[in-house]
Amino acid sequence: MPRLLILYHSQTGGTEAMASAAAEGAASDAEIVLRPAADAQPDDLLDADGVIFACPENLAAVSGVMKAFFDRAYYPLLGRVEGRPYAMMICAGSDGENAARQMARILLGWRMKPVADPLIICTKAQTPEAILAPKQLTPDALARCQALGATMAAGLALGIF
Ligand SMILES: Cc1cc2nc3c(=O)[nH]c(=O)nc-3n(C[C@H](O)[C@H](O)[C@H](O)COP(=O)(O)O)c2cc1C
Repeated sequence: MPRLLILYHSQTGGTEAMASAAAEGAASDAEIVLRPAADAQPDDLLDADGVIFACPENLAAVSGVMKAFFDRAYYPLLGRVEGRPYAMMICAGSDGENAARQMARILLGWRMKPVADPLIICTKAQTPEAILAPKQLTPDALARCQALGATMAAGLALGIF
């Protein structure tokens, strides 16, 4: 079976739920490695046939812990992951577009290959209290993450990426 790395960061649980749902969706067609960005190493990417990157948008940017992974791994992996297929998921309060743009730019630098549109899930949290509260995603949102995981795993298994 192909190996799918799901590399994620989550502060209040939303992205973690998205990552788990994607893993569920992918499980029948791929071996899944679910790795928090804080623990991830360049080898995790080298060992994977495909990757789903998932993080919150914070302050109109890729969340800091995810960015720290890219800062740590960018040069060790430059020239070594070209063409590797990826998808991304963003958990956001109300936007998410800029985090998706930033991550796409970083992954373009690595010359990785996007195989799906960014999946952005908005929690609609607006107040400081709601933003800092644990997140509960809707069944529809989780189903979309599951479908992305299934698509990614099936594509890897069939060798179509
Ligand atoms: C410091 C901070 C900054 C944030 N900035 C944004 C933002 O710029 N745009 C947005 O849509 N959501 C923003 N949010 C909301 C988070 O993206 C949202 O709560 C998301 O669910 C967090 O994902 P998580 O539950 O995986 O941590 C911010 C949250 C925090 C804590």
